[in-house]
Amino acid sequence: MKRRKQSSRGKFITLEGVEGVGKSTHLEFLGHYLQDRGISVQITREPGGTPAADKIRQILLTSHMEKLQPMSELLLMFAARALHVENVIRPALEAGVWIICDRFTDASYAYQGGGRGIATRHIESLERMVLKGLRPDMTILLDTKIEVGMARVRKRGLLDRFEQEKDDFFKRVRRVYLARAHRDPRRIKVVNASGSIADVQAQISALLIKRLASWL
Ligand code: TMP
Repeated sequence: MKRRKQSSRGKFITLEGVEGVGKSTHLEFLGHYLQDRGISVQITREPGGTPAADKIRQILLTSHMEKLQPMSELLLMFAARALHVENVIRPALEAGVWIICDRFTDASYAYQGGGRGIATRHIESLERMVLKGLRPDMTILLDTKIEVGMARVRKRGLLDRFEQEKDDFFKRVRRVYLARAHRDPRRIKVVNASGSIADVQAQISALLIKRLASWL
């Protein structure tokens, strides 16, 4: 098995998709897949990923705290992201560790842009200020019809602030995700997540085999 040079910068992989697409299951699979190939991996998530960013996550996901306007929501997402990028993501990548992140900036375009209707230019300027050019090397977009994903989520019971939104909200979110994938097909790979877990993981493995061949 080919082992990568520990001195090189780690790769940054993100996983995206609307609720109920099975991100957690596939995130774990992705982590094991890379670790089995001798890659040191750190799994993290947004919003969150540091103690302070996790506190911001609580504010964002709790519906009964107080009313959050779309712009406050966007700014909190980016405040959490700034903490996460500076304290976790950049140091890990510089140390040669690969980051697998459950959601990242594409989610802000999809949820705050598509879902809440915030103008793209506002999100772009926050992205420039906070990320200073940092972008995922690869994004896997798990995609399924909203009705399929939301049926899974609603079966789980207690719903967070986002999960309480109507299907139309998630349809707008999905539309933006797919449009971004269409515009940036090299980075964002769409995986059909409506099949079985094995079927989705076969698609993810196929993508990784190709990508690893050029990275390692
Ligand atoms: P999770 O349930 O996948 O952990 O994500 C929490 C929620 O946060 C999910 O409903 C999507 C939302 N979200 C945004 O609205 N914008 C963002 O930038 C991120 C990272 C997440």
